Amino acid sequence: MHAFNRRSFLKAAGAASATTILGARVGPVAGTLAAAQAEPARPIAANDHIQIALIGAGGQGQYDTSVAVQIPGVKLVAAADCYNGRLEHSKELWGADIFTTRDYNEILARKDIDAVIIGTPDHWHKQAAVDAMKAGKDVYCEKPMIHVYADGPEMIETARSTGRILQIGSQRVSSMIYAKAKELLASGAIGQLNMVTAHWDRNDAIGAWDYTVPPDASPETCDWPRFLGTAPQIPFNGEHFFQWRKWKAYGSGVAGDLFVHLFSGTHFITGSHGPTRGMATGGLRFWKDGRDVADVVLGLFDYREGFNLSVRVNFVDGGEESEGLVFTGSEGTMEIAGNSVSVNRVPRAKEPGLMIGSFADAMQKEIREAYEQKYPRTHPEGAPAAGYEKYVAPAGYSDSYDHFKNFFNSVRTRQQPIEDAVFGYRAAGAALLSNLSMERGAVVNWDPDAMKLT
Ligand SMILES: NC(=O)c1ccc[n+]([C@@H]2O[C@H](COP(=O)([O-])OP(=O)(O)OC[C@H]3O[C@@H](n4cnc5c(N)ncnc54)[C@H](O)[C@@H]3O)[C@@H](O)[C@H]2O)c1
Repeated sequence: MHAFNRRSFLKAAGAASATTILGARVGPVAGTLAAAQAEPARPIAANDHIQIALIGAGGQGQYDTSVAVQIPGVKLVAAADCYNGRLEHSKELWGADIFTTRDYNEILARKDIDAVIIGTPDHWHKQAAVDAMKAGKDVYCEKPMIHVYADGPEMIETARSTGRILQIGSQRVSSMIYAKAKELLASGAIGQLNMVTAHWDRNDAIGAWDYTVPPDASPETCDWPRFLGTAPQIPFNGEHFFQWRKWKAYGSGVAGDLFVHLFSGTHFITGSHGPTRGMATGGLRFWKDGRDVADVVLGLFDYREGFNLSVRVNFVDGGEESEGLVFTGSEGTMEIAGNSVSVNRVPRAKEPGLMIGSFADAMQKEIREAYEQKYPRTHPEGAPAAGYEKYVAPAGYSDSYDHFKNFFNSVRTRQQPIEDAVFGYRAAGAALLSNLSMERGAVVNWDPDAMKLT
């Protein structure tokens, strides 16, 4: 159940070092997509039920659905997947009466379904989303929005021409922690931003995508041709089916899986459209099990707002899994770690200071006297405030819940969601520059406004 108390707001400590449990939620930010607004196929009143279906009922699809159905008025009625075991488990989770199929077109043909959640591997995101929007469904599509660059414009255009809602599933964009970070940065809490350092390190086999292949995996239990779609047509392979992230044909490497969260977070907090160029390096260092993607990647990006972003994923990290972003400004740092954001404010001294000890005594005296005239001693009470503040989300807080709440609000109001197709493409397009840079061994240029490789 949805356990957190949204009204709690506790100020826990004094001014110099304070921890605040966040309670108030900053409202949804206006979307960036100026879509032609068409009426939904079946107009939904504010208190009507919204009927949804799941396309791609694997780990994330099942999790997303479990969150979505906690939003009042939302009901799952159907699920599509390419593995029998996941259709079976969908019935175990949501009732024997839900409709299940291997072919999502049977779901899209149903008039009683208002919206779909897409939790397929990356190489199916564009096609499933476009098919769903053309069939009149609103779409919550998992990140990364794209698998190849051509996916972006097609998804944006389809959302625009059909007037459908398309929300991309980087749930941190709806997090109250990220909203607080955005507010803190805008208020000047760390002065002028000059660098963002983000990382996501892991150490174990599951973290490195070695997901369990069930013993019944076979061409009978798995719809292999449908899973492959437009990917290279190879004979059935259970590892490719269940560990698809390890191959470029279906996934997008660490860039599409993890960098994209760090980019969407950075873009949301800074308001930037994205980097103008990027470069990345890395390699396959440890998990040499037949995969064709790297397990260590480091990327560097230029933002014309005057900061640089560095991102890192390391699947061979000696420690525990850790994920976080540090924003460095002229007057301090802001760190997002877990369900908290903290600011360490170190205001800049107004005086430049003196380094004169190596000069002759008379010269030192002359310089010091001139300095003291120019910079009279500041009263301590006039000094700018330094200090540490930390904001923590309430126990059990779920950004996914808020992301789905935002989506279903858009389904009802027809207003653009917080992470529309333009936002989603700007984040995924930027993240995937890392793959291009590694393939080409070169710096890659990107126009973040036009969303084009240059
Ligand atoms: N937002 C997040 O934090 C988050 C977390 C994990 C995964 N994801 C994203 O969710 C997506 C799914 O990841 P996962 O870990 O759940 O993968 P998964 O392998 O567990 O599930 C994918 C499912 O899609 C099914 N599928 C494949 N092609 C299909 C088709 N044409 N029609 C219907 N079903 C099809 C497969 O049978 C499989 O069951 C990925 O894009 C991933 O990046 C997002």
